[in-house]
Amino acid sequence: MRSLIDILDLSVEELYEMIDTANDMIENPAKYAEACKGKKLATLFFEPSTRTRLSFEAAMLDLGGSVLGFSEAGSSSASKGESVADTAKIVSGYADIIAMRHPKAGAPLVAANNASIPVINAGDGGHFHPTQTLTDLLTISREKGRLHDLTVGFCGDLKYGRTVHSLIAALSRYTGIKIVLISPAELAIPDYVKEDVLDKEHMAYTETVDLEAALPELDILYMTRIQRERFADMDEYERLKDSYVLNVEKLEKAKSDMAILHPLPRVNEISVAVDNDPRACYFKQARNGKFIRMALILKLLSDDSLNTAVSQLPSEVSHLRCHNPGCITSCEQELAHCYRSMDGVNRCVYCDSEVK
Ligand code: CP
Repeated sequence: MRSLIDILDLSVEELYEMIDTANDMIENPAKYAEACKGKKLATLFFEPSTRTRLSFEAAMLDLGGSVLGFSEAGSSSASKGESVADTAKIVSGYADIIAMRHPKAGAPLVAANNASIPVINAGDGGHFHPTQTLTDLLTISREKGRLHDLTVGFCGDLKYGRTVHSLIAALSRYTGIKIVLISPAELAIPDYVKEDVLDKEHMAYTETVDLEAALPELDILYMTRIQRERFADMDEYERLKDSYVLNVEKLEKAKSDMAILHPLPRVNEISVAVDNDPRACYFKQARNGKFIRMALILKLLSDDSLNTAVSQLPSEVSHLRCHNPGCITSCEQELAHCYRSMDGVNRCVYCDSEVK
């Protein structure tokens, strides 16, 4: 049994295989119409979603399976205080695979360590969003014909942008990738992404606040929303929310074949007029999400290896405490705090924050 918590849980070869499968699903959907007949997907969404939840459900239905689940914490027993671990154990008796979204980083890892069925991380707080990354990789591959030798600009909320963190990690495994990080200083990329991915993998990257100056060199522009729900200080959100607005005039500075991606939803960071530009790929990207999730469900349901999520946890309980209020350890009192050490820095296994 195998779960998907971090995009790096999948090898580069597996990613290419899944992209091939998704492309075949797009061309020959009837071939897969009964591939998961008799199987059930549980979508456990403790946080709002349109694309991820509905594309997972559409994916399972198009594979001939069934779906059950909830779309908000308030309609589940989490509202009565049930833990993620207990929820995962219970749902293991009702379904064959779980897709979980949660506002706290590390919740899907806790679920994977307690479920007896595969768990897919469908977004955990501001941490990771590996199935959006699968969607992004399929889209880049279809639009550019390659996943290597690309200059990729990430613009907007790079601090809490879980889709950004997961896509940078995925791109670290391809050659000739240059990353341009475009954000206000307050929303810069977290240290753990810089230290554990960009620096560790010797990736070429630059940081700037100036979108227009960065545009001419980009092959891909990955826009993101400034996420109101991640801010503790609403004054700071109001000050930063309109930091970047991509419009038709700014696009004149970009390459004629640059691909514009956005995980969506957008608020106003891409003007609606840009939707008519052939470089706008974000609606195709959302559609691709269903097919790559079909490929993922099929892969995990046919994998009979050990539960890899469990093996990521060290066996000893940490004497160090994670103090990140966005971590699952902040709200589940009995959850053991665990950390991993890398280059002299101790990081929480659930949220990757430094623990001291
Ligand atoms: N991209 C994405 O995760 O969208 P939803 O929040 O609508 O699922």
